[in-house]
Amino acid sequence: MIRKDCQKVIITAALPYANGSIHIGHLLEYIQADIYARFLKLTGKGAAGKDGAGNDVLYICASDMHGTPVEVNAQKAGKDPEQFARGYWKEHQQDFASFLIQFDNYYKTHSPENRQLAEYFYHELNKKGHIYRKKIRTIYCTYCVRSLPDRYVRGTCPYCTTQDQYGDICESCSSALKGIDLINPKCTLCGRAPRQKESEHYFFRLSSFAEQLRKWLDDPESGLQEEMRNSLQEWMEKGLEDWCISRDAPYFGFEIPNSKEETGEVKYFYVWLDAPIGYISSTENYCKRMGGAGQGKKRRAKGKKDAKKCSWQDYWMKGKVHHFIGKDISYFHFLFWPAMLLALNIPLPTLTVHGFVTVNGQKMSKSRGTFFTAKDFLKLYPAESLRFYYASHLDRHVNDIDLNFEDFKAFNNHVLMGNLGNFCYRVLSFAEKNYGVVKAVQKKGEKEREKEKEILGLIAEIRRNYAAQDFKSAVRNILALADLGNAYFQQAEPWKNPQKAAAFVGWQVNLARNIGIMVSPLLPAFSAKIQDALGEKSENNNKKSWNWNDIKFNWKGKVKKINHLVEKIEKIPSSQTFPLRLMVGRIMEVKEHPNADTLYVLSVDLGKGLGKKQVVAGLKKYFSASALKNRKAIFCVNMKPAVIRRQKSEAMILVADDGDSASLLDAEKSRVGEEAAFEGLENSKKEVTFEEFKSLLITVEHGQVWFEGKRLATAEEAIAVHGVKEKARIL
Ligand code: MSP
Ligand code: ZN
Repeated sequence: MIRKDCQKVIITAALPYANGSIHIGHLLEYIQADIYARFLKLTGKGAAGKDGAGNDVLYICASDMHGTPVEVNAQKAGKDPEQFARGYWKEHQQDFASFLIQFDNYYKTHSPENRQLAEYFYHELNKKGHIYRKKIRTIYCTYCVRSLPDRYVRGTCPYCTTQDQYGDICESCSSALKGIDLINPKCTLCGRAPRQKESEHYFFRLSSFAEQLRKWLDDPESGLQEEMRNSLQEWMEKGLEDWCISRDAPYFGFEIPNSKEETGEVKYFYVWLDAPIGYISSTENYCKRMGGAGQGKKRRAKGKKDAKKCSWQDYWMKGKVHHFIGKDISYFHFLFWPAMLLALNIPLPTLTVHGFVTVNGQKMSKSRGTFFTAKDFLKLYPAESLRFYYASHLDRHVNDIDLNFEDFKAFNNHVLMGNLGNFCYRVLSFAEKNYGVVKAVQKKGEKEREKEKEILGLIAEIRRNYAAQDFKSAVRNILALADLGNAYFQQAEPWKNPQKAAAFVGWQVNLARNIGIMVSPLLPAFSAKIQDALGEKSENNNKKSWNWNDIKFNWKGKVKKINHLVEKIEKIPSSQTFPLRLMVGRIMEVKEHPNADTLYVLSVDLGKGLGKKQVVAGLKKYFSASALKNRKAIFCVNMKPAVIRRQKSEAMILVADDGDSASLLDAEKSRVGEEAAFEGLENSKKEVTFEEFKSLLITVEHGQVWFEGKRLATAEEAIAVHGVKEKARIL
């Protein structure tokens, strides 16, 4: 089933949703796959080896344009979904390029190739009896006029009774849910109670593939990671449910052919049906660009004289396919996708699953100031620093990876710069200043020969590390080489008598050059600068790049001035504290204050940690009781408790007030009990007085809440305010 020693290799990374920006969490995967693809290319074309290196390697990706979130957010932005998604498609390409992630093709799922292939897959599955229709109950919001997918309903978990859970999984007890199971469900778009509706849908018989999937799981050749073999085993034991592959309108996706005739309504392919097919259609688009089947020569890519005719089948039927994905999408890639491929007799891929990126030990969060888009990150740090940091944490295990900013800075400054960069820079600039030209090393001393032996052993190991996707070890071994070079340079003291040391430095230049070749999958720009200094052709001048076979110890030639290889990192995000502790709460009850006309007494749910609190609030002149009941709002919960006209008040509700009108802060998307914080500032836990609270200048600008240029946000959203004038104060 799995093919060895073949020439054509496809590497993919998951297709990011065209519904938001690329962030540093995403980047882990695209960098991981990029390193592997670059390694295969480096060892290809003449250096192919038994370790799986092919010589026609394509790194393929696309933006995933379909699904409800794209449709809903496009509507909110007042754009047509295709136009909306196309904006992100362009942005994704720029962001990837800025991190030196080099795709051979970056396409999109809303494309003619993908439509055609999705229909082809569907027809084949249908023809072979793997598709059937069934009536199911769905959740429908009559106000929003739409069926609600699981992430668009919230309600109480039927297993553990935790409130406010999404319809796909309970955050408290981890039970898999269906929207329809929730007690007291609410539409997340409008907050109203939806109703049930019967609708006919298309199903894929996943269950018929159980036996073939079991075989794959048991096959030692299938390249499954141990952790994934275990997950698969568990899933199989639980039993495979058939898969609903259709969705009701409104939806952004491809129409299912004949669905109107068959069910009375137009149905669309579920985004996860055509998304993985996007891997194939992007390959097909590549072939078209290269002047392949059916397109004639006119579309042939510029500068690709050796473009050969090809089609996706050349790669997918005869080659090898390797997917890189995150653990959250493994069910789709280990069950549905292989089953579809099996049904069409397409050989099964190899998969590498990675864990999740956390920042400073916690989930990335806007309020903690640890959520960085690719663009925001690049404003502060160099791309290669992140590549090197991620690489030094990656092996082929499904562990989460923590981006700890203290470590990141230390690793960049002391290791990437202080060790690796320092060695290459120091040797090459010494050679340039003192000799200009490095002669071929004729007679090597005993010492060099011995060192060479040791080094060649390490080099062979580095190649094995890369091939096994054990980038962590590749980094460690490359650093060992640089250490060895640094120590040797220090010990030989060539600066004492440069002329006598010429041969020794020549040999060191060779070592730096070899390191330059070996780091190229990790640090393409660093590598290209070395290549430029040695007058070799590089990615920078768009000529042929280095090949693993170029590693040697008898290079000679002119050494030009070398550019600085690594930038130092000075500042990292620091968390300063903000005197208030702000939290999302829900107003459960609103009562008149028994002793004051302008006050309400609210009963507020502040989640698991703090539970229910009583809050006295002077809101009567602005809000009716019914307008407040059930609303989420932001509360200050570290205020010294007070008794206001004989009613205790244990927290304070934040209100935006412009003198004429007032408004609560919107936190509908956030969870009850979640902290809201100004970006980069941490909430204090110490008690504050009302005087201290009043001294803080918190204002409304552009419909959001600001303190000293920092925006108020929860992990889910920036907090918004409506219906008050600009510069309204938060009181
Ligand atoms: N569109 C689907 C994939 C379809 S593939 C046929 C999707 N898109 S995504 O944008 O949500 O995620 C893209 C990839 O980024 C996934 O593999 C996902 O696991 C990965 N990551 C997203 N956030 C991540 C972290 N915080 N950490 C590591 N990887 C993360 O899923
Ligand atoms: Zn609704």
